[in-house]
Amino acid sequence: MTRIYAIANQKGGVGKTTTAVNLGAYLAAAGQRVLIVDIDPQANATSSLGLGASQLPRSIYDVFSGEADLADVITLTNRMRLDIAPSSHAMAALETEAVEAIQDPYKRSFLLRNALTPTLHRYDYILIDSPPSLGLITVNAMTAAEGVIIPVQSEYLALEGLGQLLSTIEKVRRGLNPRLRIVGILVTMADARNKLSRQVEEEIRNYFGDLAFQTVIPRNVRLGEAPSYGEPINAYAPNSAGARAYQRLAQELLIRDGVITPNSEGAPA
Ligand SMILES: Nc1ncnc2c1ncn2[C@@H]1O[C@H](COP(=O)(O)OP(=O)(O)OP(=O)(O)O)[C@@H](O)[C@H]1O
Ligand SMILES: [Mg+2]
Repeated sequence: MTRIYAIANQKGGVGKTTTAVNLGAYLAAAGQRVLIVDIDPQANATSSLGLGASQLPRSIYDVFSGEADLADVITLTNRMRLDIAPSSHAMAALETEAVEAIQDPYKRSFLLRNALTPTLHRYDYILIDSPPSLGLITVNAMTAAEGVIIPVQSEYLALEGLGQLLSTIEKVRRGLNPRLRIVGILVTMADARNKLSRQVEEEIRNYFGDLAFQTVIPRNVRLGEAPSYGEPINAYAPNSAGARAYQRLAQELLIRDGVITPNSEGAPA
């Protein structure tokens, strides 16, 4: 069974891409076959994995516009079992073009889901890195996914906008994808010494209860540096606090998903 998770929050810079890349890398290190699908016009997941968006012959844009199959776009990374469907800046025009080309709004929301179907058997996990918006591209991610992982930065106003995100998830569930659920809320860029950061975490735990991941991602410079080396954190700085946090997150997710049991070392149950 392939688990497809969209990583979404319309707020910019909260750690969506960092989570897609590093959670993906640790799931792959734990033996899972992982595909990261970059659908953000900024193509940050693509460049974080060492690929230059402007040098690639094809991207997820060609898949959305019906010019290529997903299989032709998927690119291997330097990491075992970790593949990426790269994005490109052309995605910035997708929404306008799709509205012109496809009259039926329902059909427009299924472009990614239909594109993923033939490739599902090749992967255990597909992580979709969404842009900071709730437009057509993110709706496509939510329509294709069974779950949403929501990174929330532990800072002032962190929860602002979450209501809008939750109501978009609810709308997609009612109209497009009844199986959609929230997989977990992930507190990112936490600073244990900062009172506000601790308060935000507490607020999230009070509000979301068990939906909040136990694992918290600390603010860690190595996590910020790794993308410029084109490497996930398990290659760039495997002993950093950021690396250990994403490794714990991968373990927590594998346990939640029933792939491993709490005491095993990451081998499939
Ligand atoms: N835990 C962390 N500690 C330190 N820096 C981080 C951490 N997580 C992310 N960053 C850095 O913060 C910036 C924003 O993170 P990221 O790109 O993952 O957010 P995003 O939600 O994908 O942003 P966007 O909405 O623009 O797509 C990046 O420069 C990233 O390297
Ligand atoms: Mg991003």
